[in-house]
Amino acid sequence: MIIETFDQTTQGILQELEKTQHDFWNISRQTAEFMYNLIVDGGIKNVIEVGTSNGYSGIWLGKALKKTGGKLLTIEFYEKRIELAKENFKKCGVDDIIEIKQGDASTVLEYLPDDFKIDFAFVDACKKQYIDFFHLIDKHLVKGGYIACDNVISHAQKVRDFLEDIGSNPNYENVVLPLPAGLSLGEKIRG
Ligand SMILES: C[S@@+](CC[C@H](N)C(=O)[O-])C[C@H]1O[C@@H](n2cnc3c(N)ncnc32)[C@H](O)[C@@H]1O
Repeated sequence: MIIETFDQTTQGILQELEKTQHDFWNISRQTAEFMYNLIVDGGIKNVIEVGTSNGYSGIWLGKALKKTGGKLLTIEFYEKRIELAKENFKKCGVDDIIEIKQGDASTVLEYLPDDFKIDFAFVDACKKQYIDFFHLIDKHLVKGGYIACDNVISHAQKVRDFLEDIGSNPNYENVVLPLPAGLSLGEKIRG
């Protein structure tokens, strides 16, 4: 198991966070492991996350990025969750490569510098906004980059317009993976 390769403190914190995962809407461990492997195996460096919560997924992304020499920008609008995430990132030793931006993700994404490059985007926030997040991320996503979105099976109705949109976009190859809440994975194949 990947978690056993982490230091004792990180293992303990991830296990503690898993006890309250329904309160903080954290991703499943299987989903976290999938993204961890994708980042490490692909040598992915520039990652953005929409929806930080208390930092559970951010810890996994951060641990993968420690291996590739990359960095994470994660976005959240709730101050209290940001405080928890900050503490968790520090305890797990990933705070030096993670920047948390507070605010509505649409606004934060809209005002990213033009030359901001994204190799991998993980979207796990307000489901109705997935289609907007996708369009905003697309401007920065490199060719060969990925956009992964959680809850596309658990919240199928709410993300339907997003899935139709990315599915009909010739620049993307998108699949829905049978991970617990359903994770879509779109690769930008041209553009
Ligand atoms: C499902 S939780 C994220 C869980 C986290 N990815 C994890 O697995 O540990 C979604 C989070 O996104 C935040 N959120 C939802 N819509 C947002 C938006 N438009 N802008 C910023 N944050 C948002 C919520 O406050 C919530 O903390």
